[in-house]
Order: sequence, then C-alpha cells, then structure tokens
Amino acid sequence: MPVQPSLPLVVANWKMNLSQAESVLLARALRRTYVADKMVTRLELVLCPSFPALAGVATALKGSGIKLGAQDVFWKTAGPYTGEVSPEVLKELGVTYVLVGHSERRQYLGETDAMVQQKVLAALAAGLTPVLCVGETYSERTSGRREIVIAQEVRTGLSGASLAAGQRVVIAYEPVWVIGSGQAVPPSEAQQASRVVRETLLELLPASELSNTAVLYGGSVDPSNITSYVQESKLQGVLVGGASLEAKRFISLLKRFI
Ligand code: PGA
Repeated sequence: MPVQPSLPLVVANWKMNLSQAESVLLARALRRTYVADKMVTRLELVLCPSFPALAGVATALKGSGIKLGAQDVFWKTAGPYTGEVSPEVLKELGVTYVLVGHSERRQYLGETDAMVQQKVLAALAAGLTPVLCVGETYSERTSGRREIVIAQEVRTGLSGASLAAGQRVVIAYEPVWVIGSGQAVPPSEAQQASRVVRETLLELLPASELSNTAVLYGGSVDPSNITSYVQESKLQGVLVGGASLEAKRFISLLKRFI
C-alpha cells in the first residue's frame, strides 16, 4: 500500500453504536458522496465498524477508495483465544487499519501498555496499519502528568516496532476526558501533544521511518472544529467518534476538506 502522508487522514470510530444493518447503510451513504465528490484526491477515509459489520461494510466500500479499519486486534495469529480476532482474519475481511489501545479498552477491558504493544507489533507484522491511541485522563492532566503519560504510552506501545518499506504507523492523541464530551481541547493543546508524540517517535524509530508516521487528534471532533485541528494544529488528521455516526453530519465534516 503506498504511503500518502500528504493527504489528511480521517478515521471514523463507530464503537458499539450501530447495528450491522445500520453500519452498511451508513457506509453506502458515505461511499456515494465520497465517490461523487472525488474525495479520494483530498483525504484518506477509514471506517471502523464493529467486528460483525466488517464483512458487510467491506462489500459496501469495494472499489470506492474508502478504507476499512477494525476497532481492535489480538496479537496471535490463531489458537485457543476465545472471543479474540486475529490480524490474519481481519486482513481476510479487507481490513487495512486497526485501532489499538483505545482508552475505552484500557478503561473497561483492562488493556495494559504491554498488551497494547503486542497488538501494535502483531498488526505491523501482518501488514496492517496500527492507529495507536494515547492520551491522559483528567486526573493525570490536573496533576501535571499529561506529557509524561503521552510519551510513556507512545514509548511502550511502539517499543520494538519497525516499519517495513511503505508501511505506516499512526498515533492518535485522544485526551480521555474529552472523548464524547462535546468539548474538544483547543488546537494549541493538540499541537503541543503532537510535538510530544513526535519527539518520542524520534527516540524510537530511525529517521528514515519518521515520514511514515502520522499524528491525529481525537476527542469531540465535529464539523465546526475539524479544520482547526488539521490546519491550525498541523496534525495529519483526526479520529472521529460521535460525529461519524450519522451520514449528513459526517459528510459535512468531510466536506471541510474539499
Ligand atoms: P468522540 O470519540 O469523537 O465521540 O469524542 C472519539 C474516540 O473515542 O475515538
């Protein structure tokens, strides 16, 4: 897959919000506009439905240029791991991106930095693009640990990672306390966090691989604030939850790029 660092990247995380039928309908609606408006030349769009909807959404997106992402991945290729889904099966379904270490998984499913790291490595080994999610909680922020937490999550998540030719890794900075709150952090804060991510990446990856990395902002992104993150903060894109669940609203967000 060619690396296209110049196109803004928009990743839609549908979480557990849509049924499989709703996911397919939404994918079809987005496809219509994406293709009609030739959005493929302006932005890279990745849709992350829940596991059961992946096959149906893959069919709906075929030939459109919109990419398919999963919300999680396991670190083994096969075996007795009840309830888990391997990178190989995701690839078989047409998945190219995978969210790893989303704060909801860290919070509700007990995902640790060590598990997140194994998932990142497994995704890369399978040729999937990991979207590593990092970000501080409210108490970490108020206790002045924001930058330490961001750097630590990037460092452990990517420890031991190396990128094959043309391979990409994406880091999404998502302050945990603004996710789903309707109140995004100011673009200047996102930019500051992105600088911490970039400085940490410098420690971890050879200089030749840094151009294959992208830093996104996530947390209450909507049609009214999207451009400030991509233009003012100079981030490479956004991770969108709530504002990606309804076709009209999400399309108005995407149209800010054209
Ligand atoms: P939100 O979610 O846009 O609804 O805040 C973002 C995310 O959790 O990835």
